[in-house]
Amino acid sequence: MHIGVPAEIRGGETRVAATPETVKKFTANGLNVVLVQSGAGAGASIPDDAYQAAGASIVANAADLYGQSRIVLKVRGPEPDELALLRKDAVLLGLLSPHQLEGIEALARHGVTAFSMEKLPRISRAQSMDVLSSQANIAGYKAVLMAANVYQKFFPMLMTAAGTVKAARVLVLGAGVAGLQAIATAKRLGAVIEAFDVRPAAKEQVESLGAKFVEVPLSDEEKAQAETAGGYAREMSDDYKRRQGELVHQRAAAADIIITTALIPGRPAPVLIREETVQAMKPGSVIVDMAVEAGGNCPLSELDKIVVKHGVHLVGISNLPGLVAADSSALYARNLMNFLNLMLDAKSGEFKVNREDEIIAGTLVCADGEVIGKG
Ligand code: NAI
Repeated sequence: MHIGVPAEIRGGETRVAATPETVKKFTANGLNVVLVQSGAGAGASIPDDAYQAAGASIVANAADLYGQSRIVLKVRGPEPDELALLRKDAVLLGLLSPHQLEGIEALARHGVTAFSMEKLPRISRAQSMDVLSSQANIAGYKAVLMAANVYQKFFPMLMTAAGTVKAARVLVLGAGVAGLQAIATAKRLGAVIEAFDVRPAAKEQVESLGAKFVEVPLSDEEKAQAETAGGYAREMSDDYKRRQGELVHQRAAAADIIITTALIPGRPAPVLIREETVQAMKPGSVIVDMAVEAGGNCPLSELDKIVVKHGVHLVGISNLPGLVAADSSALYARNLMNFLNLMLDAKSGEFKVNREDEIIAGTLVCADGEVIGKG
């Protein structure tokens, strides 16, 4: 099987979908050929010769690479120019933004078989393939470092001959994968941390990391509503949002740094920090809005910019894993390899899409010209 790894062309995308480690594993049995576009690893500090040493063939341009590749490993969904180059019988794996239906419809019209890694079912067998977790984990870490960089004070409490410096107060909104890593990272830097989530299950996890869980009291009905069977959050009632807004406002005014990570799959991100809350924050405070690509948890944050409003620094960098490109590529590439191994037989080299497998079926977004499992 010919597996192709193109250079990513989406602006600011530094990650790459295969590394020398995964290339070596794909080529070990002598049944697969891995083609890597020259320069594909540059953003993640992986030179062409490292891929070559691992057994890949370097291809000079995208047209040749796509033309020869039956399986294509990508980070981002294809841009129109890339789509035109994909073979009709190609199998595409990547972060294809499944909720943006036009993109998936275009892939279906082209005839390719496509797997959108965001749709991977969150079951234990799929954990080693879970790109959302691997990338959110890195994003949570980098968000705290970005905040520390912008913030003009220390994170830890310090007792010096020149006097005592108070520890930074960090508020984390949304304690999923990214939020929990943000808590752990801020803790290592010495901050005092509070965190919120709609899912009651998050309380124990937050507390186990040494942070305080701020609770919006929930009725039994709301508790049942807050979390889907898949472990994701649901959109809450207007009354909940009002109660949460009041509490966030109060805690935000006391915080120095806010990291917001709240997302609801397929929906705009919930607005958690309104303009009046930003106004109530201390000058020099920092908000890192990790939901900025989904509309933002704070309406004042701006996509891919750091801006100052009402004296508060708002960091709206969307591709935080891209700022840790070497490790985010390493983890992403392993996730893709583990997923592809479900379909690519290591002994015979045979490729088969077994739609009876819930991991494969859940992730497949188009095949035979049809869109599958919309949204
Ligand atoms: P996500 O990226 O979709 O959302 C981030 C966080 O925002 C979530 O914790 C969510 O509950 C929270 N949130 C949404 N609306 C909110 C609001 N209005 N106010 C406050 N918080 C809000 O979620 P992520 O990080 O992908 O994880 C979702 C769940 O999946 C978690 O329970 C996680 O433990 C679970 N998970 C399970 C895995 C497995 O079993 N294989 C792997 C990874 C995660």
